[in-house]
Amino acid sequence: MEWKYDVAVIGAGGRVGLPLSLAFADSGLRVAGIEIDKSKLAILNAGMMPFDEPGCAEILKDHLESSDERIVFTDDYDLTETCEYLIVVPGTPLTIDNAPDATGLRDVLGRLKTHLRPGHIIILRSTVAPGTTEVLSRFLRNQIGQSLFSEIEIAFAPERIVEGKAIQELHELPQIIGAFSNVGFEKVSLLFTQLGVGIAAHRTRAGRDMDPFVVELSGGAVRVYFAAGAKLIWATALRTFQIGA
Ligand SMILES: NC(=O)c1ccc[n+]([C@@H]2O[C@H](COP(=O)([O-])OP(=O)(O)OC[C@H]3O[C@@H](n4cnc5c(N)ncnc54)[C@H](O)[C@@H]3O)[C@@H](O)[C@H]2O)c1
Repeated sequence: MEWKYDVAVIGAGGRVGLPLSLAFADSGLRVAGIEIDKSKLAILNAGMMPFDEPGCAEILKDHLESSDERIVFTDDYDLTETCEYLIVVPGTPLTIDNAPDATGLRDVLGRLKTHLRPGHIIILRSTVAPGTTEVLSRFLRNQIGQSLFSEIEIAFAPERIVEGKAIQELHELPQIIGAFSNVGFEKVSLLFTQLGVGIAAHRTRAGRDMDPFVVELSGGAVRVYFAAGAKLIWATALRTFQIGA
């Protein structure tokens, strides 16, 4: 399949989606930024940032004004049909039980279902509760049927940046990837190496590639680690990889 764009970032006007879209474009990829907030779209298409983030305004200006068509911002989901990778990164605010609410992710997958094609690689990037990628995969399979579902890949590759350092960290922090297949793992790795980062390619003791569930567990731990310096929690997450959970 000949893809017009390399990556669609869905939630491209957000604190995570926008720096990510710009970092990919600046690394030479063709990016379709999908955003449903029309006010953010208007700001972006006028060449301005909807929020302050060091380094972003310059990249936005460079690529929107150039004729290389490296990046577009739109609310038109039809464009996702022409993008090989679909990175899904809406907000996941905490519920009353303090768990990330996956309603926005489910909504995006619902909108994507008629646009999916064989060869698509879906990457969930929002912060989620352990088990979410598996649950959403089943949801998607029910929506699109086993035949098409077996021809796409789904992975979880959490965002770890802190606001104010997004562009710098997107090119520095190793990417952790959880996938259901080796092919999915390799394809998602290939995408993130375009940013110049290493891939956290741990294997479980059973020799399996990292399952999304393990990454979802460790993602929470990484965030606590950075917030509180809780090395014990990070060590516990690493042990989870080793015991093959
Ligand atoms: N902000 C951070 O520094 C940070 C760091 C690490 C992880 N995260 C996680 O990343 C995720 C995104 O966070 P954020 O801060 O970017 O949120 P955000 O609210 O700034 O951005 C989300 C964007 O998605 C758009 N959106 C929502 N539904 C959509 C849909 N159906 N189609 C297209 N666009 C849609 C929204 O309009 C918004 O612009 C959350 O899970 C968050 O916990 C955030």
